[in-house]
Amino acid sequence: MKSLIDIMDLSVRELDELTDTALDIIAHPDQYAHACEGKKLATLFFEPSTRTRLSFEAAMYELGGHVLGFSEAASSSASKGESVADTAKIVSCYADIIAMRHPRDGAALVAAMNATVPVINAGDGGHCHPTQTLADLLTIRREMGRFDHLTIGLCGDLKYGRTVHSLVNAMSRYEGVRFLLIAPDELRLPEYVRRDVLDAKGIPYTVTNDLDGAIPSLDILYMTRIQRERFPDQSQYERLKDSFVLTPEKMARAKDKMAVLHPLPRVNEISVAVDQDARACYFRQALNGKYMRMALILKLLSQADGAPAITLPEGLSGDHRCKNRRCIVQTEQELPQRFVSSDGVWRCVYCETAAE
Ligand code: NCD
Repeated sequence: MKSLIDIMDLSVRELDELTDTALDIIAHPDQYAHACEGKKLATLFFEPSTRTRLSFEAAMYELGGHVLGFSEAASSSASKGESVADTAKIVSCYADIIAMRHPRDGAALVAAMNATVPVINAGDGGHCHPTQTLADLLTIRREMGRFDHLTIGLCGDLKYGRTVHSLVNAMSRYEGVRFLLIAPDELRLPEYVRRDVLDAKGIPYTVTNDLDGAIPSLDILYMTRIQRERFPDQSQYERLKDSFVLTPEKMARAKDKMAVLHPLPRVNEISVAVDQDARACYFRQALNGKYMRMALILKLLSQADGAPAITLPEGLSGDHRCKNRRCIVQTEQELPQRFVSSDGVWRCVYCETAAE
């Protein structure tokens, strides 16, 4: 693996190795303090971020490396119309590794097709967010001591929640995992995740909008924010924004060992009073993200070879257009359409949306 675009780019063994490295960094930080001396990380954030960007930057500094980049599209040449492909080629001249966040689904793949240094997807639209999953996995390992035989409740915006899509992929590879998908009807898990991951692997799951009813059976409750910026229709956001609020009363019905995770930022979906509960893991989870990003930077830099990180997957081109309005093909200059087949369904290589 030369870049991390999707959590499935990493095997279960590689995930174990990354969590082992992160635990070793936590135990012996001094041994890693010069590991990336002379190396530069570029953080290209076309979308707002606190945790992801700053934890990447802190990670690189704690490895003895340097950081350059931008934190909003307005201060980059994207505001003048530069493509993601050109930006990735240019930044490859200045940095040894790139972490990129972009509002379009599939943007990180396009960057990796054009960069000659490793690219890390720090969130592409509503599609995926593999390094948040690394933070989630280290948190599950430290809090629960295992990845298997867990009942996981995913609550909130499962449609646009890219962290949820990557976590479902990652956890579906462990024995005895089942999911409760707790969302309003309008924000259910996308069909490409449900069908290609859960149904394809025979993973048990229940779809519900009843958090109260679900909570007593959960080992992990993964809360998410209803994401105002992803809604094409703001009146729908207003209607759904207060769908779920985790309160101390709800926590009283949960198992003594249930872990509450949240990728953060929180708006109002977890009451501040819950922060006092020992089962609230979300601030520890944010710290874990820094250690996992350190482990990932070390791994990718050790594998970098100067060649383009990823080539466009083989598949069908032709006249089909991706129908996803948020897909990178809608805005990127001269980007070829490309569809690959899984189980008889043709999907866009950039955003995984099924072709009509
Ligand atoms: C999430 C994201 O940006 O996808 N946050 C994060 O990276 N920690 C979730 C969110 O924005 O709600």
